[in-house]
This record gives sequence, structure tokens and C-alpha cells, in this order.
Amino acid sequence: MANDASAVSDAISRNLDALADPFTPPADSTLWRKNFLLGAATASYQIEGAVNEDGRLPSIWDTFSATPGKVLAGDTGAVACDHYHRWEADVEMLASLGLEGYRLSIAWPRVMDAAGLPNRKGLDFYKRLLNRLKEKGITTSVTLYHWDLPQHLEDRGGWLNRDTAYRFADYADLMSRDLAGTVDAWATLNEPWCSAYLGYGNGHHAPGLANDRFATQAMHHLLLAHGLAIPVLRANDPASQKGIVANIGRGTANSDSAADQRAAHLFEVQHNAWILDPLLKGAYPQDLFELWPGTEPLVLDGDMQTISAPLDFLGINYYFRTNVASDGAHGFRDVPLEGVERTQMGWEVYPDGLRDLLTGFKRTYHNLPPIYITENGMASDDRVIDGHVDDTQRISFLKRHLAAVDQAIKAGVDIRGYFLWSLMDNFEWAFGYERRFGVVHIDYSTQKRTVKRSAELVAKFLKERKARV
Ligand code: FCB
Repeated sequence: MANDASAVSDAISRNLDALADPFTPPADSTLWRKNFLLGAATASYQIEGAVNEDGRLPSIWDTFSATPGKVLAGDTGAVACDHYHRWEADVEMLASLGLEGYRLSIAWPRVMDAAGLPNRKGLDFYKRLLNRLKEKGITTSVTLYHWDLPQHLEDRGGWLNRDTAYRFADYADLMSRDLAGTVDAWATLNEPWCSAYLGYGNGHHAPGLANDRFATQAMHHLLLAHGLAIPVLRANDPASQKGIVANIGRGTANSDSAADQRAAHLFEVQHNAWILDPLLKGAYPQDLFELWPGTEPLVLDGDMQTISAPLDFLGINYYFRTNVASDGAHGFRDVPLEGVERTQMGWEVYPDGLRDLLTGFKRTYHNLPPIYITENGMASDDRVIDGHVDDTQRISFLKRHLAAVDQAIKAGVDIRGYFLWSLMDNFEWAFGYERRFGVVHIDYSTQKRTVKRSAELVAKFLKERKARV
């Protein structure tokens, strides 16, 4: 990363000094409203472990992480946070922090066998977990697909095979029949951009294929899977909310030149409109095919209508912005800015991007559904010292991003809640365990959980808010 370490730490201290209080939102913040849900998120492969237990089948991430060179340090999700065995203590921890919502995902290969029949032991795990969360009064947000595709489906083409979309609808049917009443919100997919582009377009994620044409076709089948699942979820569990989770990226232009402005536009088309236009306008953005000529997916009659069925909510995951310039041809290239604050991932801390994207979506999409921020957070190299983890940069990060959410709400965007990523440190995909995103620290050699300072401050705020009349 073109970024000098001392410039970064100067930027961090500047931002911290500007804060009178390290976390608590100001008195006029909309986040004091009790109906603004504040929770935390995780995902099955990143925390559960127990990959060979109780009939779980292999997923594409088991295969990918076992392939040398794909994941930093050769890490895999085989044990992760051992949440499959420690879920009761983890729910206690969540409740003791006063977190009001929990976003989790279900591992498809844990609950269905290769013939499409239910795996009772796997289903019972989620049933117990969700029932316990409800007993604790925690709002449950369940994502059906957070990237752990059963390997047997990948062996038949994965998301390049249209049939996978129909298998997904069967899976949604099984889950919503079994778990109806324990789920407040169902999200079909987490971040189809990552599944399609990182999985099939550049190969950084499972299954590791790299072809732009594959990416657009995989995206189409992912969105079709979503569209086929929505009416199934509505029929089986009418009281719950139904939606999808998209990651969004802010692209800013490196100069005022028309070419760089166009590059920033194309960046946002590729990151945002590629997913949001089909969902909310029923059509792919044509500019996408300027960026990737000749990659139009095969779309059958009726698909776009299926994909654009109304949503009860849209989940938004936001992490950073990318500064771009024209690549001199059809596209854009990254131009990393110097002297800006970055996280352990090298990602720029840029809260305004969240506000600007949300207010922009409100202008672009007249039917924009109510929004939940389903992920936002940062990785830092956190260490336990004398039993404490002082994750100063995260505290400031969360405070500033929540302020951006407040600004977007005040600008008229209907935002109902925020799930920080993540409840605990976990398997960060291609980066393994080195990158720590949790508000709870995990010692992977002992599985000891240590609540970080950020979690303590979030808990303090939630307690104060609850006590208010
Ligand atoms: C998102 C993923 C999530 C986590 C964060 C850091 O793209 O949805 O699982 O890895 O990034």
C-alpha cells in the first residue's frame, strides 16, 4: 500500500483528537431512537468450525482453503471460533453486551444432503440457536447464503449452472418451513458481487475461477436464485421481513478530467449498479458491458421480473472507498491516496462514502426499500494486554460511521438498523485469521473470548439508551 506508516498514525490521532467522547453519539443523533436496531454480524464458515460433524458436507470454502496458496498462512475454517460447540456461551456474550440484533448465516452443506433431503442434526443446531436468541429477546437476521456453497453443486458447475438457482430455492423452502417463527429477517444472499466477481471473475475467492464472462453469468444465476427464493420465503414465513445483502463501494475520481470522472462512474457501476439495477430497476446497467465488452449473461424470458420482485429491506455492507483514474482504455485503475487513515486490511477509512452512497441511492432508485446496514467495521492487529484489548481505531471508526448513518437518515434515507462486523474475530476468507474484525477478541489456541474496549463502549451506549424514558 502506498502509504507511509507514520502518516497513517498521524491521521488516526488527528481523527481521535477530534472526538470529545470516544463513542457515544451526540444528543441530537437519530441513533438514540430506541427503534434503531444495533447489533452484530457473523457468518457460518467464518466462525462455526466442526466442518465434518453431524453430517455436514464439504463446501467450496473447505476445498478452496485446503488448496495451497489460496489463503494466507494456509488457514482454513476447520475449527475457526468453534462456535458450533460454543454457541451457548456466545449467545450469552451477545446478550450480556446488550446487543439487540444478531445477523448470522446458515451453512447450506450442514442442513441438506446431496439428494436435497434435510439433515436433521444440522437443522437442529440452527433451531436451538435461533430459539435461544429469541428467548433472550434478540432480533434475528438470517442470511441463507454467505458463500459456503455445497461442493457437490460446484462440481456440477456451481453458480455457472442455472440449476443451482433452483436448488437454492429448494434450500430456502426447507429452511423457511423449519425455522418459521424464529427469524425476524431473511436475507437470501450475502454480497453477490463477491460471490460472482471474486469467485468467478478474478479467482481470489472460492471456487477460484477467473473470467469476466463467468462473473456476469454467475451473477445472473445468483440474482435469479434470490428472486426464486423470495416468494417461497413469503409463503412459508409470512410474518418475517425478506431481503438481500449487497456490498457497496465508493469510487472517487483522481482528477476533474472527464476520463477520470467516467472511471469513477464505471467503478460504481461495477460495484453497485450491477447488483442494485437488476434488483430495483429490473435491468442490468448497459455501462457494465462497456467495461467488460461481450460479457452479457444469458437471460431467459421472465428472469428480470423474478429478480426485481419487491423487497422488504435492502441490507448494505460498506467498508471503504477506492480512488480511481482512467486506465486509458475501457475501465479504471486504482490510485491509492497517500497520507490517509487505513486499517489492517489497507482499506481507507472513509465514512462520508457511506453517507454519499446511501443518499445517492435514494435519488437513483425511487423504490429503494428500507435499509439495514448489515455490515460495517474494520480489522486491526488487536492484542490482549493485561486482560484488555484497547482497539482505539475501531472505536473511532464505528463512531464516525454511525455518524454517517445518522447524516443519511437526516437526509431522508430510511435506515432501520446497523450490524457491526463482526461480533468476534474470525476466518477472514483469503486473509485467514491474521485480520481481526471482531469487537470480541479470539485467542485461537485456547478459544478464549475477550471483550474489546469497542464492545464495552457499544454496550455502555445501549444501556444508556435503554434507560432513557
Ligand atoms: C465482507 C464479508 C464478510 C467479512 C467482511 C470483512 O465482504 O461479507 O464475511 O469478511 O467483508
